Amino acid sequence: MSLRGQSFISSSQLRSEEVDLLFNRTALFKDHFKKHGRIEDLISGTAHRDMLVAMVFGEPSTRTRSSFQVACARLGMKTIILDNMAVSSVSKGETLEDTFRNVASMWPNAMVLRYGGSVETPDMISELKCPVISAGIGTSEHPTQALLDAFTILENRKKISGEKVLLVGDVLHSRVANSNLILLKKLGAEVAYCTPAEFTPREDQWKGVQHFAELNEGMKWATVVMGLRIQKERHQSGIGLSIAEYRERYRIGGDELKLFSNDGIILHPGPVIRGVEFSPNVMIDPRNRILDQVTNGVFLRAALLSFILGLEVNT
Ligand code: CP
Repeated sequence: MSLRGQSFISSSQLRSEEVDLLFNRTALFKDHFKKHGRIEDLISGTAHRDMLVAMVFGEPSTRTRSSFQVACARLGMKTIILDNMAVSSVSKGETLEDTFRNVASMWPNAMVLRYGGSVETPDMISELKCPVISAGIGTSEHPTQALLDAFTILENRKKISGEKVLLVGDVLHSRVANSNLILLKKLGAEVAYCTPAEFTPREDQWKGVQHFAELNEGMKWATVVMGLRIQKERHQSGIGLSIAEYRERYRIGGDELKLFSNDGIILHPGPVIRGVEFSPNVMIDPRNRILDQVTNGVFLRAALLSFILGLEVNT
């Protein structure tokens, strides 16, 4: 696996054979945990017990931060977390880049970073003296989310190649959408998006990707539907569309659900803003796999960390 000792910040870094290896280890960890309630016993040797992962989150998070923390705990590794910039020296004027440099200088074995993306990502990350895993950077990418999404598709649909994945929502501002587009295309899925004109994604990345203006049409086409949060915090100068207008045409939860395949699945990276992207009935629809995504995030991140940190696994 070429990820050993490397940073991971983009879905484009992985070849499909490496994704297979990662998914096999994710499935092994999940299955073993279900049977035995632990995964640390799968790790060869004891070196992992001295390993420490530093997590610095400059933006809010529930799932990504907690699942990396749970993954490290399950692997028997230690974590430190800096996730409240108001009590860090950022509040005294230190830059986020310098915060990352300082934490890296404490010699963690790896760092997990989330931030708004105002810093020069590739240059800053290549300077740091340990592997860096992106936990979501600005509007560019969130590659571990895409991996856990693809794993959830595989687990439920038994394949990824040929699946028709419809992204619905604020594609323009979604790092999850960008990472999913790269990864799912690489794995042979068809990707389309359904958005109002205000959320049309950037031409350079999304050129040639099928667009459905009407939710009904997209739902008829798809085997996998992924809702995306409306990212109000990134609409600095407004987007010319009210939430009420968005809801009227693109909220999932009405008759369009009847057009969606009975054996299709509904995903969302979270957080779901109930009543905006999804009506409450979507959360209890039998095709909803949102909490399975969260569970899979733990084992996927544990598998990824084990490869990056060079941990051998007994099978
Ligand atoms: N999917 C995701 O990134 O969720 P959090 O923002 O809660 O980590």
